[in-house]
Amino acid sequence: MPPQGVHRGLRLSGKNALQNQIDIMLKAYHSDIKPSEITDREIYLKRRQFLQGGAALALGLTLPGCDASEPKPAASPPPTSPKKKLIAAKNEAFSVNETQTSYKDITRYNNFYEFSTDKEGPAKLSKAFVTRPWTIRVDGEVDKPQVFDIEDILKTFPLEERIYRLRCVEAWSMVVPWIGFALADLIKKTGPTSRAKYVAFETLYDPKQMPGQQTGLFGSGLKWPYVEGLRIDEAMHPLTLLSVGLYGEMLPNQNGAPIRLVVPWKYGFKSIKSIVKITLVEKQPPTTWNISAPGEYGFYSNVNPKVPHPRWSQARERRIGEFRKRETLMFNGYADQVASLYTGMDLKKYF
Ligand code: MTE
Repeated sequence: MPPQGVHRGLRLSGKNALQNQIDIMLKAYHSDIKPSEITDREIYLKRRQFLQGGAALALGLTLPGCDASEPKPAASPPPTSPKKKLIAAKNEAFSVNETQTSYKDITRYNNFYEFSTDKEGPAKLSKAFVTRPWTIRVDGEVDKPQVFDIEDILKTFPLEERIYRLRCVEAWSMVVPWIGFALADLIKKTGPTSRAKYVAFETLYDPKQMPGQQTGLFGSGLKWPYVEGLRIDEAMHPLTLLSVGLYGEMLPNQNGAPIRLVVPWKYGFKSIKSIVKITLVEKQPPTTWNISAPGEYGFYSNVNPKVPHPRWSQARERRIGEFRKRETLMFNGYADQVASLYTGMDLKKYF
């Protein structure tokens, strides 16, 4: 059996796990979580012994063979979505007045497991990702199920710039100038029925283009396609954004092109990327991280400094680009706008 590793609660095997562990150790400065906390302690110690045996590995020098374990995308067509400027008026009422994370960090430090479990991997491996033509189907408990073409979406919905905090469950954060429009505006066009209690989202499933979706020994262990969900009142909340761009340009592939969700008061994994389907449903839908580790990632996943992850604290976070950690704010600082959605709910139970 190859050595087993755990990444954010997932079992990984062989070289991919080792590569992940090294990345985590070398990039610990970015994170509030010690490597020993991300990984089960026993596995972490075994891995350390293994690393001590190889000075080159420990120094983070070239790691022959490690890269080869990453599945590679199929022969790539040329990129089809050149960088394009987007015109969008800034929505001051929905923007925080905090230093924005650099474009470089926002587009080079990503979580997009369909491409890679490594933070720099998505930018490298999504270069040829085809995002045109692209449609989103909206169906389920609606009077008018519809297929929206991304070009029509860009023409139909007035775009706004909104500067939001983004807080990852891994205890790092960013401030991102998104461009997009309220999800509610799209949903309203389809006429939700009274039975629409939740909204389910789905990412593209295309293992040929998305190497992380190729199953096998070195896969992430996640079940594909990536799915997410919100309660209908969360989905209709004016803060909930469908984003098509950032920093005045079309969304880079690694950030979820051509269209992704942004729910700023929830941990980043709720903000599903590269959406192809939105379904209004009566029952709470399954969500990817909850399927993979139900004790660690709940359906709600509201940012809450008082509810620790089972393996690390959520009280503080590292803002990417800053050195000192800062306090994590309840609902990521959006309590005034969203706390009323959860009145009377036990947020430790519904984490
Ligand atoms: N959506 C899909 N389809 N696949 C993913 O792996 N990762 C999530 C979320 N959306 C993810 C996803 C996580 S864990 C985070 S923190 C954010 O995307 C990261 O968004 P960013 O890379 O734009 O910062």
